[in-house]
Amino acid sequence: MAIARCCVALLLLVVLVAAGSAAAAADQLRVDYYRETCPNVEAIVRDEMEKIIGAAPSLAGPLLRLHFHDCFVRGCDASVLLSSTAGNVAERDAKPNKSLRGFGSVERVKARLEAACPGTVSCADVLTLMARDAVVLARGPTWPVALGRRDGRVSAAGEAAASLPPADGDIATLLRIFAANDLDIKDLAVLSGAHTLGTAHCPSYAGRLYNFTGKNDADPSLDGEYAGRLRARCASATDESGMISEMDPGSYKTFDTSYYRHVAKRRGLFSSDASLLTDATTRDYVRRIATGKFDAEFFSDFGESMTKMGNVQVLTGEEGEIRKKCYVINS
Ligand code: HEM
Repeated sequence: MAIARCCVALLLLVVLVAAGSAAAAADQLRVDYYRETCPNVEAIVRDEMEKIIGAAPSLAGPLLRLHFHDCFVRGCDASVLLSSTAGNVAERDAKPNKSLRGFGSVERVKARLEAACPGTVSCADVLTLMARDAVVLARGPTWPVALGRRDGRVSAAGEAAASLPPADGDIATLLRIFAANDLDIKDLAVLSGAHTLGTAHCPSYAGRLYNFTGKNDADPSLDGEYAGRLRARCASATDESGMISEMDPGSYKTFDTSYYRHVAKRRGLFSSDASLLTDATTRDYVRRIATGKFDAEFFSDFGESMTKMGNVQVLTGEEGEIRKKCYVINS
């Protein structure tokens, strides 16, 4: 009994120390981190982002998603950007990452920063700033981004497959995965609002349209009329035609609160979106923001939750490296 108590205490201590050091690492990030070494970093990223989004507004969603997929696997260390090598299949080649886009845009911004301040600004910081600017340029909120993340040297496809939330996840699964990243139930409700931007491929939601309960039926939690419209864009559960659907139909290039109105009307595209209606806390949040009377509240919440997400398991100080190119570790 005494031994069991001692082990529990030890485990608790390990968890507390780990949580404490993760928080301590994030505490080292600073908004003016590059004040001496690359004072124009934010202006350079913003200038290049204006060109990128100006030429292709539909890239705002993918660039926001890249940061999310980076942070949930090994923390925000730009591991998602590394290419596979002869002996290693990297995160970006894992199944849930096959639909990621925007890698070329990240290299473009990084190249501008390398020209201005060589070997100084990490790819992890570049991703974080690009995600924020993508939201701003899609007419969403802005928030201060603390900087000083360093880049990791490891990227493994298996870790991505195990750590990213599945589109068919229920609320318990999503909460567990968010909690593993120090994100709580409110963060889940708020960050799901990122699905106001972007598009999805048929395999991400086809499971809800065909043979959901084995009776050749659709997911009963999905609005019937909407399911019919989706079936027209997604011919079967195995449709690989590559056709895309807007996740926030009508305003998928604009960051706004209409995502919550779709979810409230049982028109969220993924099971994960629909699952927000299955818990009292997330359901209340969806319904409140869906009224359209609390847009400013959602905007401010989104900045706060993005800041928390951008702090997940960051590398700081002497950890990791500052990559010269984001797709490959320094030799
Ligand atoms: C709550 C758990 C989440 C799940 C299960 C999920 C799942 C997905 C899936 C399956 C897609 C579509 C992929 C495709 O078929 O092309 C997608 C797209 C997207 N996700 Fe999420 N996501 C989640 C949370 C988030 C978060 C936290 C963010 C950002 C903060 C985010 C941002 C996006 C964006 C912007 C897109 C559109 C990308 C594009 O246009 O290519 N998602 N998500």
